[in-house]
Amino acid sequence: MTMIKTLPENELEKLVDYFLNLSPEDDHRMCVDRSSLLNRDEWIQFLKNDSHKSLEDRQLYYLGWYLDDQLIGHSSINKIAYGVEALIHLHIWHPELRRHGLGKEYLWKAMQVYFEKFALQKIICEPNANNPGPNKTLIKLGLSLVDTYQTKPSPMNYEHRVNRYELTRDHFKDLLSRNDRPCSVQSEEACLNF
Ligand SMILES: CC(C)(COP(=O)(O)OP(=O)(O)OC[C@H]1O[C@@H](n2cnc3c(N)ncnc32)[C@H](O)[C@@H]1OP(=O)(O)O)[C@@H](O)C(=O)NCCC(=O)NCCS
Repeated sequence: MTMIKTLPENELEKLVDYFLNLSPEDDHRMCVDRSSLLNRDEWIQFLKNDSHKSLEDRQLYYLGWYLDDQLIGHSSINKIAYGVEALIHLHIWHPELRRHGLGKEYLWKAMQVYFEKFALQKIICEPNANNPGPNKTLIKLGLSLVDTYQTKPSPMNYEHRVNRYELTRDHFKDLLSRNDRPCSVQSEEACLNF
């Protein structure tokens, strides 16, 4: 069974360990600047502190992706402007679970949660332009490619060329109402208003 829910505090360390233990291939694919990463304890503490803030004040928000009750990946948003927009991220932690259709399903459900919980008008994603996994997944889900440019998208990246994708709330509602993207992922988060 596939399910998403807010990543509980006691699983934040697994998320940090995922990033700290990325393979050289994943580092390269995601343009991670290893020298910029916080140390494990500081990073976990930073995430815990942020998770205690109100949704309006959050810098970050994490959804765990579960397969048969095992945490196998996550999605997050950052640069959150509550009621306006946020940047979304997507990760299946185990390479052998990638390319089986899971990312598409989890991300679709995650976007419902983010649009609703943060009253977003727009979701943005800026993957490395040379990373086929997210680029293909985002296009498949109906996000629009609006720009390609050189940037350092987050403190943990080195500068690289990103594709900028956007999905507006209205477009997402339209896609949902056409029911052309059915999803079997369960969600513990309310996402019933769409
Ligand atoms: C990005 C990611 C979450 C996508 O999840 P996934 O389960 O692998 O994706 P899906 O199997 O749902 O595939 C979605 C589409 O992308 C395509 N795709 C996925 N990975 C691909 C790859 N490496 N190369 C080419 N196409 C790929 C699939 O074929 C599919 O297209 P289709 O429906 O036309 O067949 C996953 O690949 C991942 O975690 N990658 C490593 C972390 C990462 O790079 N995250 C992005 C950071 S910005």
